[in-house]
Amino acid sequence: MAEALQQLVLTALDTNGTILDTRELVLPGQTKPATSSEDQIVILGALNSLLSREMISYETHEVISHDLTPEGQQIAREGSHEARVWDKLPEKGKGAPITPVELKGLVGDETAKVGQGRAFKNGWIGKEGNGLVKLVTEISDTTKDDIQEIASTGTLKSGEKVLADLRKRKLIVQRKGQWFTVNKGPHFSTSTAKPETDLTADMLTSGAWKTATFKKYNFDAEGVPPSGGALHPLLKVREEIRNIFLEMGFAEMPTSSFVESGFWCFDALFVPQQHPARDLQDTFYLSDPQKALSPEPEYYKRVSTVHEHGGFGSIGYRAPWSHEESSKLLLRTHTTASSAHMLYKLAAKCRGPENDDGFRPAKLFSIDRVFRNETMDATHLAEFHQVEGVVADRGLTLADLIGFMRAFFKKMGIDKVRFKPAYNPYTEPSLEIFAFHPMLNKWVEIGNSGMFRPEMLEPMGFPKDVRVHGWGLSLERPTMIRYGINNIRTLVGHKVPIDNIENSPAVMF
Ligand code: PHE
Repeated sequence: MAEALQQLVLTALDTNGTILDTRELVLPGQTKPATSSEDQIVILGALNSLLSREMISYETHEVISHDLTPEGQQIAREGSHEARVWDKLPEKGKGAPITPVELKGLVGDETAKVGQGRAFKNGWIGKEGNGLVKLVTEISDTTKDDIQEIASTGTLKSGEKVLADLRKRKLIVQRKGQWFTVNKGPHFSTSTAKPETDLTADMLTSGAWKTATFKKYNFDAEGVPPSGGALHPLLKVREEIRNIFLEMGFAEMPTSSFVESGFWCFDALFVPQQHPARDLQDTFYLSDPQKALSPEPEYYKRVSTVHEHGGFGSIGYRAPWSHEESSKLLLRTHTTASSAHMLYKLAAKCRGPENDDGFRPAKLFSIDRVFRNETMDATHLAEFHQVEGVVADRGLTLADLIGFMRAFFKKMGIDKVRFKPAYNPYTEPSLEIFAFHPMLNKWVEIGNSGMFRPEMLEPMGFPKDVRVHGWGLSLERPTMIRYGINNIRTLVGHKVPIDNIENSPAVMF
């Protein structure tokens, strides 16, 4: 039916150029024009389908139309009550008059009651004795005619007064209806073949694309929400920071080993073996296995010597060296442990011939997880991520470090930075980094930095004129600021709402 109706509309348009009034169409399988509102609803379906393919355009017209009530339908079929009463009576003087009781038996209570009154009023019937007879030999049943006209056209030519009367008599009800004017659309064709959704290789080779109708692309369609994974805000910020480092020519360090030894996490960095950071209260130690493999013996010896007795211009800590402390296994407390491994590898290449000591400048970075035995609160967890940059070159100065950091933080959108002298066991000088927080309207500490000490670099084997500087910050801090999070537990851990993760926007510095 839908297909046939669409075809009918297209054919009508093709022959006449336009359809002025859809009420004049004769629907497939019918004999009379589609004047009823049901018909127009069916037509509207077909029009909308053709419109979506831009084969037609149409205009809607509103009409008030009328439907028959069940009583109205009966009148359309059998005539008005008064006509039915008249019909049953004998002509005056030509037979026995019919009593009202008999009439009820012939036409039913309702028709007898209503019909008698109206037939009397019309002068169609009269009394004879205590019975009823016809007074006229012919009647014209205008009610039936009017009702039939309404049934086929939805309205009456004779006008609103009669309609109002029929409404009052509950023979018809008023209803809003629609009809349409139809014109050809930009993709008019007499074929209702389904529009193509894709341009295929077959269509190109056969040339079918030339005549094909294509379905219009719906740019407003919402699309299917992906049910796959979503990146965590920390990972998004990590990616941004990683890109900043890569842009600045840094290479990423391998940071996969969460477990380090006391040697690599502290000793190699010239952190005294008695330093409070190495306490159980601050560092997680492993119970199984407890001991690390020994580092390369000669390097190990140089490190232990510089701690115990000094060297390379340093007096050392002059405290007894503990191999046990050095070989403890722990969860790394900073990614500078990974930097130490990488710097040692870099220094190991510095064994070239006389005129080339083998040193090559390096810019390295890492962003990974570290662990500290912290009391947890809204801003501290026992594990977090560190961002760390390390630069090694001959003759670097503190100004180079400051310059690097300014450039780096500027790329993160932080223009105002300040540096404050600080203490780190492995750097001298050391600087704390402060940034101006426009929302808090104050300076906040964002990181830590410094020039690595000769006591750390020279035992590794770096030439004396090679300077290495570095800086570090947490990944959580800028992430929380970026996403306006004030409790770290809504960012990391089992209390994180999954839809927060799924809906968190991408971040760009
Ligand atoms: N490791 C330092 C920290 O945990 C950061 C840092 C890295 C400082 C490199 C100086 C040089 O805060």
